[in-house]
Amino acid sequence: MAALIDTTAEPAIDPRGVNSGVAPVTYGHGERPPRGDYEQARADYTCEQDWGAYSAADHELYRRLYERQAAQLSGLACEEFIDAVGQLGSPAQIPRFDALSEKLQRATRWEVVAVPGLIPEEAFFSLLSQRRFPVTGWIRKPEEFDYVVEPDVFHDLFGHVPLLFNPMFADYMQAYGAGGLKASRLESCEYLARLYWYTVEFGLIDTPAGLRAYGAGILSSAGELRHSVTSREPQRLGFDLERIMRTRYKIDSYQSTYFVIDSFKQLFDATAPDFEPIYEDVAGRPELTTEVRLPSDRVF
Ligand code: PHE
Ligand code: FE
Repeated sequence: MAALIDTTAEPAIDPRGVNSGVAPVTYGHGERPPRGDYEQARADYTCEQDWGAYSAADHELYRRLYERQAAQLSGLACEEFIDAVGQLGSPAQIPRFDALSEKLQRATRWEVVAVPGLIPEEAFFSLLSQRRFPVTGWIRKPEEFDYVVEPDVFHDLFGHVPLLFNPMFADYMQAYGAGGLKASRLESCEYLARLYWYTVEFGLIDTPAGLRAYGAGILSSAGELRHSVTSREPQRLGFDLERIMRTRYKIDSYQSTYFVIDSFKQLFDATAPDFEPIYEDVAGRPELTTEVRLPSDRVF
């Protein structure tokens, strides 16, 4: 899920670079200690992957997570994801980020970089705007096989990286990063975070074969993948930028609303205009709860 969740203390970034002792970023209101080692992070929050430090049990857990998800992609994940997931390499081991970056560089000029865990919004946006995707180094514990609160290496790699091989989606992610830097200046990050949530994390796409998932939060979830595409419970609404910016989201249960795009081109084009007037407009209108249905909603 990367960085877009309620960063409390805004850490000072030391412009001198390496070993600046960046402050960790915690979820929610900071009751839980951060899991990653932020001591090792550079000023831009990137660090070394330290691949040699993974244990055999870590690799084994990654393999089990990977195989559980891979077995249910057909008919639920979009083609672009299924076509690219093999680029992650053998599921037998947690991929080496440098080898993956070489492939990504060739495909779409993206790379993956290691980070200790959640990072502040601005650092996150800045990396995306440079076509560098931050991936958490650590893997969850075996008892978190079904559910982990913070994004780990499995969510970040399996959920997010395959679509970075798609040129249109790759360009959207970079534009999102640049847009995030601007939203920070305009104090509108909350609206932009909702766009991330309802597209990059929990987006659905309409295809000739039916609805399919492209959001990383869905694709890396054991239960929500099927739920999001086939359950009768949630509502599925056509992509609508302002509607999304007004809609709150849930971080602790399956979504009650998913937004459906027609294509990655539609997503890219709909988000290309200047957001400044849109933020102003959204700020003047009421927020929407995740269950609400409006007369203007295009229902799937
Ligand atoms: N068009 C947006 C802006 O002007 C930038 C953006 C692009 C944001 C794509 C998100 C996704 O702020
Ligand atoms: Fe994510």
